[in-house]
Amino acid sequence: MIPEKTGPAAVIVLAAGAGTRMKSRTPKILHEIGGRSMVGHALLAARSINPQQLAIVVRHERDLVAERVSRLDPSALIVDQDDIPGTGRAVEAALQALDAEQQLTGTVVVTYGDVPLLSGALLAELVATHEREANAVTVLTAVLDDATGYGRILRGEDGTVTGIREHKDSSEAEQLIREVNSGIYAFDAAVLREALGKVTTENAQGEKYLTDVLGLAREAGGRVAAVVTADRWQVEGANDRVQLAALGAELNRRTVEAWMRAGVTVVDPATTWIDASVTLDEDVRLLPNIQLHGATTVARDAVVGPDTTLTDVTVGEGAKVVRTHGSGAVIGAGAAVGPFTYLRPGTVLGESGKIGAFYETKNVTIGRGSKLSHLGYAGDAEIGEDTNIGCGNITANYDGEKKHRTVIGSGVRTGSNTVFVAPVTVGDGAYSGAGAVIRKDVPAGALALSIAAQRNTEGWVPAHRPGTRSAELAQAATKDSSSTPASTEEGK
Ligand code: UD1
Ligand code: CA
Repeated sequence: MIPEKTGPAAVIVLAAGAGTRMKSRTPKILHEIGGRSMVGHALLAARSINPQQLAIVVRHERDLVAERVSRLDPSALIVDQDDIPGTGRAVEAALQALDAEQQLTGTVVVTYGDVPLLSGALLAELVATHEREANAVTVLTAVLDDATGYGRILRGEDGTVTGIREHKDSSEAEQLIREVNSGIYAFDAAVLREALGKVTTENAQGEKYLTDVLGLAREAGGRVAAVVTADRWQVEGANDRVQLAALGAELNRRTVEAWMRAGVTVVDPATTWIDASVTLDEDVRLLPNIQLHGATTVARDAVVGPDTTLTDVTVGEGAKVVRTHGSGAVIGAGAAVGPFTYLRPGTVLGESGKIGAFYETKNVTIGRGSKLSHLGYAGDAEIGEDTNIGCGNITANYDGEKKHRTVIGSGVRTGSNTVFVAPVTVGDGAYSGAGAVIRKDVPAGALALSIAAQRNTEGWVPAHRPGTRSAELAQAATKDSSSTPASTEEGK
């Protein structure tokens, strides 16, 4: 049996920083792109390389961050950083915690909680290079047009990496270097432990720099090398909301492109927003201006859009969803929804069913082939198969205090403007007349009528609105204009 490939000894995710430029009450790493927090992206990438242990270092907004981390990745070790600042101190704290039971040996990877586009594949490449070359430290770098603010990669005459200089500590000549430190590294655990013990806070920022480990590792005779990535997005952090939006747009561009390569037609990639957590089948068609969020899934041959937002919605094979706002709903195979439809949680539309224009639904199960075609509300209800709900029907489910259920059978035909005053049950094959207010159960096969008889007061308009256009037309139509007001009642 081939043993499952095990990853590095540990990944340490740094997430103690304050993120003040976000100007937010929400901790920076909890801001989202692609429907997932930045720390969520970081944890997934870290997990994907299958580390034996995963630690995350927290400090700023500690409790909020720790609570989220333990939900996202319950087995992640949460480590608190003390008041000594710097990335070196953060890693030292993590290493001490990881070493508590047994000293780590092998590869330790360091990543950031605010670099959301970093992929597991690039991390795996970093680790593979590090281990293949038997390096003491391997740093992930990128060459940028504007390297301002970043730590610069120092290389010797032969091109080998000799160290990293922080921007604030750099000379003018060093500031011309465009190869930057991403802050993502693979270390040999023993080298890292040893070097961190020697890192001081004697620098422009009075911080313990993790970057000092590179120079110290070299002095100790270790090999230091770099993996240079051409994909700068993967090493870019979000410090403010402008960068957050740019990273979000790039992540979406990548997600949309990946789905197109997997066989999804996307008519307008620029206005199609797909969360990282969404799944789509081959031959799905996405029309312009749509947002697919959360656990939304769309099955083969379904068409979504234009102008549709779906969150946690399951769209069945061949279904059509047009100009719809939906969440927590299930749309059956071959069903049709929209335009202008609001699906709320608990909506389950059966195969080949229909929820048409200007309908709002909530907590309703609609059987196969049943249609709610236009203008209405269906909530806390159960509708059987092949039932036709007329235009403007409403389930009056709320008595001001409690919600009640409406149960409508199969093969039912309801007249326009029928109101179901719940709790109420309508049997199979029953009909209702236009404007019926169903307060009592309707037996199977019955016709339910509840409206009062219509009363026409003849000549009312000429008598009460004399001189109006309506009165003139009425007089012309009735010719016998001397008629006095009289009443008739239908059905008497
Ligand atoms: C750091 C690097 C720099 C690199 C840059 C890439 C050091 C000394 N410098 O810069 O070479 O080009 O990242 O973005 O490492 N953090 C902690 N605890 C701390 C300080 C930071 O956990 O005490 C975390 C932050 O939350 C963040 C990451 O470490 O996720 C980097 O911190 P940040 O201050 O953004 O980076 P710099 O120190 O400016
Ligand atoms: Ca800093």
